[in-house]
Amino acid sequence: MKERLVDPEVEAFDKEEELSLRPLKLTEYIGQKEAKEMLDVYIKAALKRNESLDHVLLYGPPGLGKTTLAQIIANELGVNIKVISGPSVERSGDLAAVLTTLNEGDVLFIDEIHRLPRYVEEVLYSAMEDYVLDIMVGKDNQTRSIRVNLPPFTLVGATTRFGDLSSPLRDRFGVVLRLNYYTNDELAEIVKRTAKVYDAKIEDAAVLNLARRSRGTPRIANRLFRRVRDFADVINDGVISNDICSKALTKLGIDDDGLDYTDYRYLRAIVETFNGGPVGVESLAATISEEVSTIEDVYEPYLLQEGYIKRSNRGRIATEKAYDKLNVKYLKGLFS
Ligand SMILES: Nc1ncnc2c1ncn2[C@@H]1O[C@H](COP(=O)(O)OP(=O)(O)OP(=O)(O)O)[C@@H](O)[C@H]1O
Ligand SMILES: [Mg+2]
Repeated sequence: MKERLVDPEVEAFDKEEELSLRPLKLTEYIGQKEAKEMLDVYIKAALKRNESLDHVLLYGPPGLGKTTLAQIIANELGVNIKVISGPSVERSGDLAAVLTTLNEGDVLFIDEIHRLPRYVEEVLYSAMEDYVLDIMVGKDNQTRSIRVNLPPFTLVGATTRFGDLSSPLRDRFGVVLRLNYYTNDELAEIVKRTAKVYDAKIEDAAVLNLARRSRGTPRIANRLFRRVRDFADVINDGVISNDICSKALTKLGIDDDGLDYTDYRYLRAIVETFNGGPVGVESLAATISEEVSTIEDVYEPYLLQEGYIKRSNRGRIATEKAYDKLNVKYLKGLFS
């Protein structure tokens, strides 16, 4: 499949680059003011009392910096971090194995925590609440459970789907923080920081241009930056001018507002195939041959936030802004 430049999900080609771009301290972490203020207080309090930090749940759309924030939490606490991902934990024994390697105060980061199998999740309950692990040993009708004590630790969970978390799991997090899309000013700051890390020259107008097309998402801002820099390296001695920025992004199929071919296809399906909606997500998915979950988690959040679409209990509706974007006359309301 063709890579989508404005896909907020992490791609293989981001991995190494992202490591070098990750801020390591809370003060270097741009934006997310509320989350940062809360964490600052809780981290300082935990350090002062010499206790482990309460369990933290981070949720929000992909690419907004959940993993980065988890690393920062561990860093600021001065502890180690172990990273696992929900879907990769298949047996409760896998989780038990990780839990028993934790040292006092350590952070266990579970990415995509909503995708932990339920029977694995259940192991977490007593671990989070009482720092104990109940393990079944033996075979057939000879099984018994033994209890293992764990050191106090901090679980940091990340999810793009808060609503998919079971309530017993949700209730065990003392700190629940929502990450929001970044403002253009914040993204501009991130682009500037990235330029500095890469030691690249970039015009102020180009910084704003990139910020505006990054869909509120640092991962996309950094990715677009790297692409534009390639163009600048080849045709302008590496200086990222606004002109090069616009030309490169247009060539890459990204419009002034950060929408790409896939967004247009999605909006066109609602407006042209389904007369503006309401249309159910299943029908839309079938029309543009995409998975329902991809549409819900990847395409829609930004289009909703920017007001191109609305969600009703009867399905998705295209707004006037979507019609404008497609250059289609908006006649809704004239006849109703
Ligand atoms: N607040 C921020 N300030 C500066 N850079 C940031 C910030 N947030 C994210 N980044 C950059 O964006 C990249 C992506 O962030 P990160 O991997 O933490 O996203 P994520 O929320 O974990 O995404 P996913 O949900 O896909 O796991 C990081 O490499 C980092 O460089
Ligand atoms: Mg991540």
